[in-house]
Amino acid sequence: MFEKLKQRWNVNGLQLTIVILTFATGGSLTGYVGKKLMGLLPISNGVLWTIIYIIVITIIWPVIILAVSVLTGQFRFFLNYVHKIGVRLRLIKPGIDKMKDTKDLKRIAIFASGAGSNAQKIINHFRNSDSVNIALIACNKPGAGVLNIADKENIPVLRIEKEKFFRGNAYTDELKQQNIDWIILAGFLWKIPELLIRSFPQKIINIHPALLPNYGGKGMYGQKVHEAVLANKEEESGITIHYVDNLYDHGKIIFQAKCPVLHNDTAESLAQRIHGLEHQHFPLIIEQLVTYK
Ligand code: GAR
Repeated sequence: MFEKLKQRWNVNGLQLTIVILTFATGGSLTGYVGKKLMGLLPISNGVLWTIIYIIVITIIWPVIILAVSVLTGQFRFFLNYVHKIGVRLRLIKPGIDKMKDTKDLKRIAIFASGAGSNAQKIINHFRNSDSVNIALIACNKPGAGVLNIADKENIPVLRIEKEKFFRGNAYTDELKQQNIDWIILAGFLWKIPELLIRSFPQKIINIHPALLPNYGGKGMYGQKVHEAVLANKEEESGITIHYVDNLYDHGKIIFQAKCPVLHNDTAESLAQRIHGLEHQHFPLIIEQLVTYK
């Protein structure tokens, strides 16, 4: 459970302990202050008292938890947390985090059309970041798993339609309006139109589940890549992170990592090992590129 929380909140063990302590202290104080405030009312129990009590603690809890978080040094974490609850309750508009909306903040759009495991890792990695904001998820596939992730994480979605993507403005205006700085392809399988590449020069990167230039190109994606690697009895495979140009899986290579192909591997077992490599490296490479370039 603690491991899951660490991943979900993107915190280390020490920070998790402080966050839990802050929750506990904030919760107790809320109960105490709530009771004191209720003591000022002329009624002392009954349904009305309970309703007012719930309203009072709902209002004072965010204030108290933020005050305690200042003392425990976790103000930024809790501001984010309270903001997210506000968004979930539809009290605050999603997508705009004022604390993060400084001019140095890099805004990333993740393009994905699959399960979105890489998207989730990237979101986790930058959850409390001061310099990077995952501002948008763009998706061309209705029902894709990544849409559930966007929903759960309160990240706005841009739905990509074929006609507009390939024969219209390729969504350049929408992306510019959202002040997107970088586009990250994390399992997005359509070719990126020339217009979009020209609008984001050297700012679109892709991850491919093989060691390019081998096993890339049109039709080479997901399981098909691993099946081809196994059919050729390769001894190793890996991942490639590269800039996107106007050819499939072709732009300048930024990073590669390798793993062995085992004699009893299936496409599924190899895919799992490759996914592990992707999750380990992709968020860190994005951070290096986006924050230092
Ligand atoms: C990833 O393995 C990625 O490398 C691959 O799609 C998968 C998406 O998985 N991309 C390509 O094959 C691009 N040619 P995910 O939805 O779980 O992140």
